[in-house]
Amino acid sequence: MIEKRPVGDSGITVAPLALGGNVFGWTADEATSFAVLDAFVDAGGTMIDTADVYSAWVPGHQGGESETLIGRWLKRDPSNRDRVVIATKVGFTSGLAPAVIEAACEASLRRLGIETIDLYYQHKDDESVSLADSLGAMDKLVKAGKVRALALSQFTPQRLDEAMITVQDRGLARPCALQPWYNLVERERLEGPLLDVATRHGLAIFPFFSLANGFLTGKYRSRADLGKSVRGDRVADYLEGKGMRVLAALDEIAEETGAALATIALAWTMAQPGITAPIASATSVRQLADLTAAMHLDLSADQIARLDAASAEAVPA
Ligand SMILES: NC(=O)c1ccc[n+]([C@@H]2O[C@H](COP(=O)([O-])OP(=O)(O)OC[C@H]3O[C@@H](n4cnc5c(N)ncnc54)[C@H](OP(=O)(O)O)[C@@H]3O)[C@@H](O)[C@H]2O)c1
Repeated sequence: MIEKRPVGDSGITVAPLALGGNVFGWTADEATSFAVLDAFVDAGGTMIDTADVYSAWVPGHQGGESETLIGRWLKRDPSNRDRVVIATKVGFTSGLAPAVIEAACEASLRRLGIETIDLYYQHKDDESVSLADSLGAMDKLVKAGKVRALALSQFTPQRLDEAMITVQDRGLARPCALQPWYNLVERERLEGPLLDVATRHGLAIFPFFSLANGFLTGKYRSRADLGKSVRGDRVADYLEGKGMRVLAALDEIAEETGAALATIALAWTMAQPGITAPIASATSVRQLADLTAAMHLDLSADQIARLDAASAEAVPA
């Protein structure tokens, strides 16, 4: 039995692992994406994370490929709509002007083939638009029934606080979640002021890059391994220092538990204060099994403490 967790004050609850959708149409073709989505739901997963911009970085793509694929998967078996919470995002390259948000929401709804987006994110802060205007546009989408709940991604602590004060002062729909970069080798991106602000405002937290682009699976141990995926160049910096200490601690706990490194890394994240569900992706059903297993792995206090110690910043000499 997988215990669900509340998404802030939205009334939505989710299983403690969200499936990352940036691979759909990028490193996972349609058949593989459908198989991964089916296996995720079969394993008790309930939340799918995507964005209108996925996967615009692939030559020949415009963005929208991931949402389109999820839309086709939902159409193939409409009963899945009631099983999943769909989160998508606006504004990564387009910015957050009200007219942009309005049009982007319509386009996402069309590609996904749904009437309401469950969780709609501002993908990253856009300081060229006032928070009152961008959050006002998001509020209108909630009032129109096109969006159920709002969220923010890639905000600084100061701007997150300002956003939450803005909605309170103006009586706008309140974001219920934050999506920051966070994992065992990137703890400082969340822990500290950002976590404090999110906690103070009662926000759910959904970390992205939860596997550090695959590094925390243990498949990259030297530069020779970087060719194992198109993502390899993103993990090169982890091959020294803290990254290798974290892998050593994960290896040790893998010996003790029999669990895969990815499973342990996600279970550690799920156990951190304030975390609702890490977001991670898989490019095969085999990989996915290591991810969903994390929903069933309880690490001991001692194992968590060893991972905490290995992932702490090195004390300067
Ligand atoms: N808000 C934002 O700005 C933002 C930014 C980035 C991502 N996101 C979201 O967060 C999600 C998660 O991030 P991510 O998908 O980029 O990275 P990630 O979850 O850190 O890494 C996932 C990748 O690791 C590899 N992998 C997974 N399981 C494995 C296993 N068992 N064995 C070996 N390799 C395995 C796969 O890539 P290969 O097979 O190619 O090695 C997989 O695509 C995204 O999908 C997206 O929804 C949001």
